[in-house]
Amino acid sequence: MNNRELIEKLNKEHHLEREEWVQLFATFTEEDRKMAAEIAREIAVRNFGKDIYFRGIVEFTNICKNDCKYCGIRKSNVNVARYRLNLEQIMACCAAGYENGFRTFVLQGGEDAWFTDERMCEIIAKIKESYPDCAVTLSLGERSRESYAKMFEAGADRYLLRHETADEAHYEYLHPSAMKLSNRMQCLKALKEIGYQTGCGLMVGSPGQSPETLAKDMLFIEEFQPQMIGMGPFLPHKDTPFRDEAKGSVKLTLFLLALCRIMLPFVLLPSTTALGTADNDGRKQGVLHGCNVIMPNLSPEDVRKNYMLYDNKAGTNLTAKEGIQIVREEMEEIGYHVVVGRGDFRKGKNNNENSNS
Ligand code: 5AD
Repeated sequence: MNNRELIEKLNKEHHLEREEWVQLFATFTEEDRKMAAEIAREIAVRNFGKDIYFRGIVEFTNICKNDCKYCGIRKSNVNVARYRLNLEQIMACCAAGYENGFRTFVLQGGEDAWFTDERMCEIIAKIKESYPDCAVTLSLGERSRESYAKMFEAGADRYLLRHETADEAHYEYLHPSAMKLSNRMQCLKALKEIGYQTGCGLMVGSPGQSPETLAKDMLFIEEFQPQMIGMGPFLPHKDTPFRDEAKGSVKLTLFLLALCRIMLPFVLLPSTTALGTADNDGRKQGVLHGCNVIMPNLSPEDVRKNYMLYDNKAGTNLTAKEGIQIVREEMEEIGYHVVVGRGDFRKGKNNNENSNS
C-alpha cells in the first residue's frame, strides 16, 4: 500500500501493522502530512467542535532524583536553582487560574521525595475542596501503586506519565541505568487500573529515535488506549548530555499528532509548549493537526526560569492572565475558541467506526 492508502486504512481500522508504521515514518511526504492533518482535523471538529480545552500547569517542584539525559532539571545539573512551592503558593496559582477560567490544574514536578503521599494528598484534597468543579491532573513521574491509589482517593482525576519510548534499548539510551521501561509500563498500567484518566506520550526526534522505535510507540499507544497523549518535539538543553543533539522535527511532530488523532478519535491531545517553542505557529499548527487541548503555565513568575526542561521554553515570561490571553487570541485566529470547563475524556460510540460513514 502507498502512504495515502495507509492513512486511509488507519482511519477505517484504527490499526496499522508494524511494517506499515515504519514505512509511513520512513517515507512520508508533505502531501501525506497534509492529508493526515485534514482527516485529523475533521475528526477533532466532529468530536469536539471547535472547542479547545485548556489546563493550567503548576510546576511545584524542580527537585528531581532522576538523571534523564534529555531533561534540564536532571539531578546532576548544578546550574539550576532548586525550589519547592508550599501549599499556600500552590493555592495562589490555582486561585489566579480559576479567576482566568481554568478548570483543570496540572500539578507537575520532578521526582521529589519531599512530596510524600501525605503531603500530596493534602494538596490534592485542598484544591478539590476549594474548587469542586475542577479536575486535578498529576504529573509526578514514577511512584508506587499504593501511592497512586492514595492520591486518587484524595481526589486526583488524571495522571500524565509519558512512556518516552516503547523500545527498550532506546529507553535505556535516554535514561540512567536505574530507570527501566518495564517499570514505566507497570506504572502506566497501575494508573489506568486505579481509575485515572491516564496519559502516555513521547518526545519526537529524541536522540536514538527511528521509524522503528516510533512504530513501537504507535503500537503501544494503540494497545494502551490512553485517555491523553503528550507529544512535543525534543529540544536540547545546554546543561545536559544531549546539548549538541538536533532538535526534533516540527513536521514529524505534526504528522504524529495527526496520526494519533486518527487512531484514537476521542483522545485528549495537547498542542504542547515544546511545539510552541520549536515554531512560533506551533500551537496553532497542532490544533490544525487534530489537537484539542492547550496547557498554559500557571507557575509563579519568579520560579519559571528554574523549570527549564529545554532551552528557550515559550511563555516563561508571562503571567497566568497573559498566558491564557495569548492562547485565546491564537485560537481565534484559526477559528477555534478556548472553553471554560473540565474537558474530561469521553468515549463516543463511534470510536471505532469509519469516520466517513
Ligand atoms: N525537550 C522536550 N521535551 C522534554 N521533556 C523533558 N525534557 C525535554 C526536552 N529536552 C518532556 C519529557 C517529559 C515531559 C515532562 O517533558 O517527555 O515527560
